[in-house]
Amino acid sequence: MKKKKKSQHNLFEHSEVKVKLLGTYLQKYFNIMSNTPFVNTVHYYDMFSGPGIYEDGGHGSPMIILRELKQAHFRSKARTVDLSSQYKCIFNDKDTEIIEALEKNIKEAKIHYPEIGTLEYSNKDYKEICPDVVKKLKTLLNSEKAFIFIDPYGYKDVRFSEIRDLLSNKKSEVLLFLPTHFMFRFSENGTPESLYDFINDIVPRDQWPKSVTGLDFVENLKHAFQQNLGKDFFVDSFIISRDKNQFFCLFFFTSHIYGFDRMLDTKWEIDTEDGRGWKFNAASSDLFSQVVNSPNISKFEKILEEYLEQKRSNKEIYVFTLRKGHLPAHTTQILKKWQDDGILVATLPNGKPARKSAFYISWSSYKNNQEAKIYLSVKQKRGKL
Ligand SMILES: C[S@@+](CC[C@H](N)C(=O)[O-])C[C@H]1O[C@@H](n2cnc3c(N)ncnc32)[C@H](O)[C@@H]1O
Repeated sequence: MKKKKKSQHNLFEHSEVKVKLLGTYLQKYFNIMSNTPFVNTVHYYDMFSGPGIYEDGGHGSPMIILRELKQAHFRSKARTVDLSSQYKCIFNDKDTEIIEALEKNIKEAKIHYPEIGTLEYSNKDYKEICPDVVKKLKTLLNSEKAFIFIDPYGYKDVRFSEIRDLLSNKKSEVLLFLPTHFMFRFSENGTPESLYDFINDIVPRDQWPKSVTGLDFVENLKHAFQQNLGKDFFVDSFIISRDKNQFFCLFFFTSHIYGFDRMLDTKWEIDTEDGRGWKFNAASSDLFSQVVNSPNISKFEKILEEYLEQKRSNKEIYVFTLRKGHLPAHTTQILKKWQDDGILVATLPNGKPARKSAFYISWSSYKNNQEAKIYLSVKQKRGKL
């Protein structure tokens, strides 16, 4: 029998960060899904599931998902109006032994109840199950949503066109893990055909920019994903650095602005300084440390100031904030400061001055109001006119 890599037996620290991001996001996602009258069924696909529990006791994605699901379900039941959705989880791994181990681990952990929904196990190759899932997703009703986690060992198994197909119903969200440091290294030293094929599927070869660093490579990939999907979609990245220049990356894709909002919130919960990623051994960003660093918003303050040289509505500013990878709370903090400094102009739609400290930069103001609630701009600095 082929000897398995160490990472197939143990959950390494970078994988722990990966499932931490997944779990923290799913906690928000499941709570939303279990608390809305507009969704009654959620399909959850873990395409490369692994065994759930590793030899070192570490919990992989299936256990993390089921833990969050169980908690969301019971939280929802405890509410006066129970709006719980049915969750249909499908765990897939092409290795029969692994999928059998997963089934056993889930049973023994007693972490799933039939009232939450259904569990299905499948041991197909990703290439085989992916078109089936795409077909299934095309039949979803408006009251159904889907989340797909794609966590392969390498990048050769996946193609971007498959992700695009999984998203095409606009009811799905995808989280994709890629070993970007390997890809970057290969892209420098004689690019192998498989990487060309991967990139060519996103952007024509001659339009793929050169990456000077591993981080550039991640940025270029994210930009190419975004360009390919167009403005109806949001693409985000979460970088996990193991060593200097060893970057793994989770890419998140959604067409729902609130999904994007919640993923940004998740990233800032884990990386309280930059909302960008996680560094191995960096004491200040220790995964489980209780130290909360304040967010670095000075760069964002500059670009927001430029953006507000023109009058913008609260809805436009909400979208701009997210597109720049920041949270509405950061924008509100900056706007309050500018108001105190006397450089902010805030007017109501009827042209009258707005109430102090009310900026309406939030998902609820975005969703509930057809029209803008407020317009904001900064006073031009002298010499800039
Ligand atoms: C990186 S591990 C997944 C880890 C898992 N998400 C976790 O958090 O524990 C990749 C898994 O995919 C399985 N696998 C590898 N190639 C596959 C393929 N082509 N189709 C489906 N599963 C595959 C492997 O057996 C392995 O268990």
